[in-house]
Amino acid sequence: MKTIGVLTSGGDAPGMNAAIRAVVRTACENGIKVYGVDRGFRGLMNGDLIPMEIRTVCDIIHRGGTVLHSARSREFSTEEGMQKAVEICKAYNIEGMVVIGGDGSFRGARDLSERGIPCIGIPGTIDNDIACCDYTIGYDTCLNTIMDMVDRVRDTSASHDRCSVIEVMGRRAGYLALNAGIAVGATAILIPEIEFDLKRDVFDRIRRTQRTGKKHFLVVVAEGISADGIITVDELAKAIEEETGVESRAMVLAHVQRGGSPTVRDRVVASQMGYRAVQLLMNGIGNRIVGMQNEKIIDVDIFEALNMKKQIDMELYKMANIISI
Ligand code: F6P
Repeated sequence: MKTIGVLTSGGDAPGMNAAIRAVVRTACENGIKVYGVDRGFRGLMNGDLIPMEIRTVCDIIHRGGTVLHSARSREFSTEEGMQKAVEICKAYNIEGMVVIGGDGSFRGARDLSERGIPCIGIPGTIDNDIACCDYTIGYDTCLNTIMDMVDRVRDTSASHDRCSVIEVMGRRAGYLALNAGIAVGATAILIPEIEFDLKRDVFDRIRRTQRTGKKHFLVVVAEGISADGIITVDELAKAIEEETGVESRAMVLAHVQRGGSPTVRDRVVASQMGYRAVQLLMNGIGNRIVGMQNEKIIDVDIFEALNMKKQIDMELYKMANIISI
C-alpha cells in the first residue's frame, strides 16, 4: 500500500482530529502517502484532496470539530456519485481509505469497498450508536459537556424550585440521555429504546420525590422521543407543571453538545483507532470497522457490523430509576 486517503463524514465529533492525526502520522512513519479529503464523500466526488504530512496535523489533537470538515452527501449514495469517487481514487492512486464517521458513513465505506477501494471505518459520533463497538469517538466529550451544562441549569433550577426538562442529542439512540441523566442525578430519564408511561415514569416520580422533601427536579429526554412524535420537551414541561404544580422550563441543548476540546479518553481512543486503521490497510486488510469492545481495540467485518443491533443496558436503566429518587 503506497497511498491512502482519510475523510470525516456525517456529524462532526470531538476527537476526530486526534484520529486524523494518528492516521497521517502512522502512514507517514511507514512510508505511505496520505491525502486528506475535504468535506467527506462530497469532497471525494469533487476531487478535493489535500496531501498531508507529519507536520500538517500539528496542533490539532486538542481541537473539537474536524480539520477536514464534514458533510452529508445524498449524491454519493447514487451509482453515478460513487463512480465519480472511485475515479478520483484511481486518479490519485489511492489504494485504501479511512472513513471516520457514524453508521451512514460506514454505508458509504461499504459501497466504496464493494467498488474496489478497501475502506476502514473508525466510529466517530457523539451518539455511541454503532452496534459493533461499546464506544465511539466524541461520546465521552459530549457526555461531559452535557453534564457541565446541566449542572449549571441545576443551580438555577434549585434557586427557583423548578423542574428543568432538558433534551439531549443521540438521534434515535438513548445512550447520551441515559448516561448523562445518571451523571446529573435526573429524577426521570426518557429514551426511545424503553417504552414509558408519563404518569408512572415522570409525574408520579416527581410527586414521590416531592414527598421526600425535594423541591427542584431535572428530567433528561433523548431527542429520539420528540423525533418519534411522542412528546416535545415544551409539551412535557407544560404537562409536568399542570400535573405536579412545579414550575417547569424546557431546553434543547442542541449543537453545543457536539463542540469543544476532546477529553483524554476521546483523544487516546481516537489515536488508537487511527493507528489500528492504518495497520490494517498496511497488512492488506480492508472492509473492516475498527471499534472498542471491553476496553480493547478490535476490528469487525464492515458488512457484519452494519447488520448488528446494539442493546441498551437495562440494568443501568433500572439502577438509574432506583437511585434517582
Ligand atoms: O449524529 C450526531 C448528531 O449530532 C445527532 O445526535 C443529531 O441527531 C444529528 O447529528 C444532528 O445533525 P445536524 O448536525 O445535521 O443537525
